[in-house]
Amino acid sequence: MTPDLFAEPPPPVPAAERAAELRAQLHHHAHLYYTLDAPKIPDAEYDRLFQELQAIEAQHPELMTPDSPTQRVGGAILKTLVPVRHSVPMLSIRTETDSSTSSPEKFESQIRNFLTSEQRRFVKGERGPLSQEAGRVLEGAVIDYVAELKFDGLAMSLRYEQGVLVRAATRGDGETGEDVTHNVRTIKQIPLKLPQDVPEVLEVRGEVYMRRDEFEVMNERQREKIAQGAKGEKTFVNPRNAAAGAVRQLDSRIARERPLSFFAYSWGEVVGDEKPPATQYDWLMRLKSWGFPVAEQTAVCRGANELVAFHRHIGEQRDALPYDIDGVVYKVNSLELQRELGFVSREPRWAVAHKYPAQEQLTTVQAIDVQVGRTGKLTPVAKLAPVFVGGVTVTNATLHNEMEARRKDVRVGDTVIVRRAGDVIPEVVSVLLDKREGDPPVFTMPTHCPVCGSDAVREEGEADHRCTGGLFCAAQRKQAILHYAQRRAVDIEGLGDKLVEQLVDSGLIKTLPDLYKLGLTALAGLERMAEKSAQNVLDALQKRRETTLPRLLFGLGIRHVGEATAKDLARHFGSLDRIMDASVDELLQVNDVGPVVAQSIRTFFEQAHNREVVEQLRAAGVHWPENDGEHNTPQPLLGKTFVLTGTFPTLKREEAKAMLEAAGAKVAGSVSKKTDYLVAGAEAGSKLDKAQELGVAVIDEAAMLGLLGGAD
Ligand code: IVH
Repeated sequence: MTPDLFAEPPPPVPAAERAAELRAQLHHHAHLYYTLDAPKIPDAEYDRLFQELQAIEAQHPELMTPDSPTQRVGGAILKTLVPVRHSVPMLSIRTETDSSTSSPEKFESQIRNFLTSEQRRFVKGERGPLSQEAGRVLEGAVIDYVAELKFDGLAMSLRYEQGVLVRAATRGDGETGEDVTHNVRTIKQIPLKLPQDVPEVLEVRGEVYMRRDEFEVMNERQREKIAQGAKGEKTFVNPRNAAAGAVRQLDSRIARERPLSFFAYSWGEVVGDEKPPATQYDWLMRLKSWGFPVAEQTAVCRGANELVAFHRHIGEQRDALPYDIDGVVYKVNSLELQRELGFVSREPRWAVAHKYPAQEQLTTVQAIDVQVGRTGKLTPVAKLAPVFVGGVTVTNATLHNEMEARRKDVRVGDTVIVRRAGDVIPEVVSVLLDKREGDPPVFTMPTHCPVCGSDAVREEGEADHRCTGGLFCAAQRKQAILHYAQRRAVDIEGLGDKLVEQLVDSGLIKTLPDLYKLGLTALAGLERMAEKSAQNVLDALQKRRETTLPRLLFGLGIRHVGEATAKDLARHFGSLDRIMDASVDELLQVNDVGPVVAQSIRTFFEQAHNREVVEQLRAAGVHWPENDGEHNTPQPLLGKTFVLTGTFPTLKREEAKAMLEAAGAKVAGSVSKKTDYLVAGAEAGSKLDKAQELGVAVIDEAAMLGLLGGAD
């Protein structure tokens, strides 16, 4: 027994030590978050540390300190923004992350239990009688709630005196916030003046936030500024931090450029209210009538069941909303009941926030793999230490392509923030650079396909690398076979999506030529494949052993070689071998083949694997008529460019074009410096003017026929 392997686990870190460590960390991150608007960890990570500290303090009350972050809601105040004391404190609400059913039920039973104990106190003479409303609830009446969205922005209190906006303040620690009126005035959704009938003093509370699309636009602009070398600019991690940063700017011109929005959901001090509403919902409708945005999803729910349904319904819509929410909020609708329920410490008993799973989490990159898609696209994928985010356990996050991976500078061993919203593929948002150890190598794309070893290339002007072993590469098998079998290619009837899937998955087919080795027993042995249909597929394969060169060529799935190019290539070269051996220069002489297409054909046939597959197809009896092609006929006009205009005495325009092309010339649609000859007939127009202007040779039909005859 080696002591190393079987030693006792290390003793737990003593609670006092851990609590002190957590406090230091939480202070540090709260400072980064609240004061500097530059958080380094996702909210969920902060919450986790916070909850760990709360748990320790609950277990060991003697360890509680007055300066513990659990005793304070917000962060320190920047000296340069003026502090504002809230006349009515800005409270926070209890947060639940439980399953969708248990939270509303728990909330409701807590309300009933509290009212029952208050009733007992009344019986004992410790308090006055309960309201009629509370009485009805105690007798079993349904409780009405208002269900709202929990916006993921920052809380704001807007103070109006005689209907005029006089001050906007952040929440700060709930008692004292900061005066940010200068910035809030720039938010177009916030009214500066209210209608006549509002109370003398009115504090409207709600959330300042940034829409996701506006956030993307703004971050794109930031990226451009950084790329242009602007100093002191940065991109933002998420819309909430961007909003918080904008609101707390000292210079309101900066805030004005940041697109902020607002939702109202509550109120603070109110003086001179002539007709105070009786419910939360009526208050919201009143705020709406005064011009404040109130989310349209706000709903009155009767009983816990309807809250459960609301939570589920909004959860389904969450990703389609134009802004981030991190949960929903339930509030008792009756204000009288709200007053009766009151507060525990700093949280109302009449409200609870019910969160959704966090969409961002912290994890580490264990490796960066490169995956090959069905079409040959190579995608770098970060392999992550498993992490629960957006409701599922995530172990992979796409890095899209080499440029993206480098822009984010993701490296093996890094600590990263991953985001997963809805069904969107998880992605790495950013790297925590200060957690990087050593100097791990920068990510580079492999030069060869990790699946089949063929060359991996990136074409000019494209972001993606691609595998060039289309016919051979296992990752592209299904795609390659389907492409080959389609009607416009070799046209094998009955060989569709599902069958190809089955054939490849069962291992019956690895590369194209295997198609021709299929036997009746194997085919008919596949699920849902009757003997008759199996025989039909075999017949179709047999029938199409005889095909044409353009069909076969298109069927090979060479990138950029569509049906038309395949026809041009076949016409020009006449045989597959000549195409396979053609140089880029030779390929460039084919009508409509430019450098990208020529290179793609070249690279395809440079892959030994692809050539092998072609040989195997031939060996399997696939054949097609070949000829000498056009390249062997004399091409006196090779490399010359012609433009045709006007009406010719004997030839139709199309005839002239065909004759020129057969002689190796290119026929273009408009005159440019590259034009060698303009062939002008009767009533030639602007093309003639242009040719004269550029000094291009202008000839008539007879001269053209002369050139075709071989004279230059
Ligand atoms: S009500 C006394 N309603 O969540 C109740 N808060 O801790 C005061 N929030 O700081 C808050 N959406 O920033 C309320 N519909 C909503 C909310 C909401 C977002 C935020 C707010 C507050 C925190 C609650």
